[in-house]
Amino acid sequence: MDRPLTLLGLETSCDETAAAVVRGRPGAPGEILSNIILSQVEEHAAFGGVVPEIAARAHVEHLDGLIARAMAEAGLSFSQLDAVAATAGPGLIGGVMVGLMEGKAIALAAGKPFIAVNHLEGHALSARLVAPVPFPYLLLLVSGGHCQLLSVAGIGRYRRYGTTIDDAVGEAFDKTAKLLGLGYPGGPALEAAARTGNPTRFALPRPMLGRPDCHFSFSGLKTAVSRAADSHRPLDDKTCADLAASFQAAAGDVLADRLGQAMRRFVGEHGGPASLVVAGGVAANAALRARLGDAAASQGFTLSVPPPRLCTDNGAMIAWAGLERFALGLTDSLSVKPRARWPLDPTAPPASYAGVKA
Ligand code: KG4
Ligand code: ZN
Repeated sequence: MDRPLTLLGLETSCDETAAAVVRGRPGAPGEILSNIILSQVEEHAAFGGVVPEIAARAHVEHLDGLIARAMAEAGLSFSQLDAVAATAGPGLIGGVMVGLMEGKAIALAAGKPFIAVNHLEGHALSARLVAPVPFPYLLLLVSGGHCQLLSVAGIGRYRRYGTTIDDAVGEAFDKTAKLLGLGYPGGPALEAAARTGNPTRFALPRPMLGRPDCHFSFSGLKTAVSRAADSHRPLDDKTCADLAASFQAAAGDVLADRLGQAMRRFVGEHGGPASLVVAGGVAANAALRARLGDAAASQGFTLSVPPPRLCTDNGAMIAWAGLERFALGLTDSLSVKPRARWPLDPTAPPASYAGVKA
């Protein structure tokens, strides 16, 4: 493909309404012509978490305006796009439908090809939008809904090494922040509180440490924080910061240990030297980035993490994933359906452990 491609990307699978225009060609970093993100934090804050119906209505209300801004900032009309991409899942189905329908409508009206993007593939390829990261690479995908280790051999070629058997790591950050009274959204608030805390004050568990597989567990860690917090209530600022720092250190140890297993498996399958990509909202956490960077370097892996604005949900990663697929001739018909569940590796066996939900 000698000519750069220009795509509009829409993202509405959770609580961010987002539209972006990206230009580029696979194999080289792309150019973000616009990347408009509207967080619905205030709409959901009173409930302490995302309310699906409120999210879907907010997407309906804001998406048109965001698309108009994204196109205006890029200085383009729909006719100048090569294709339109939208998240088709996985996620909250009401929200996914909003972005998917709108993306299809624009593609139809402008006579452009349409690409239905897997939100997880958006995260998985986001590092390639900003840096040359060749396939294959190891991916640690850490977000509010997912915590997975995968090998990425190419577009659509994922093998899942491990996943969480209970909570996703972002979910654990959110729940822990809530029980510490740090507010919503929890991840950034907990990271801020942890900055002044003592990470060794509370001896919290490190679930799954040393297991020979690549799976994760975080619910026991969150419960341990809950118990420790209850025995110190009312919480003073120092104790709250120490609990946050102790939680973050334990979560970092679990991620680094599971990553260690995955790096060994990846080198066994693909050889080295190898690249590690950490993507998803939790990759915005500077302390965890540093912890995972050390773990990667100790096994000879080069770490790539997208900048924080591309780690949390955004339209640029959807436009980019659409661009990579479009360049391979992978387009979708306008009858493609929204999907609440859409694993990157449908062949992966379930991660079931006795006594825990899989
Ligand atoms: O990728 P994302 O925006 O949405 C999903 O696809 O889930 O990730 C959101 C998650 C939330 O759980 C949020 O608390 C977490 O990412 N997160 C963080 C940080 N920033 C966002 N977790 C820890 N530290 C952060 N700085
Ligand atoms: Zn996401």
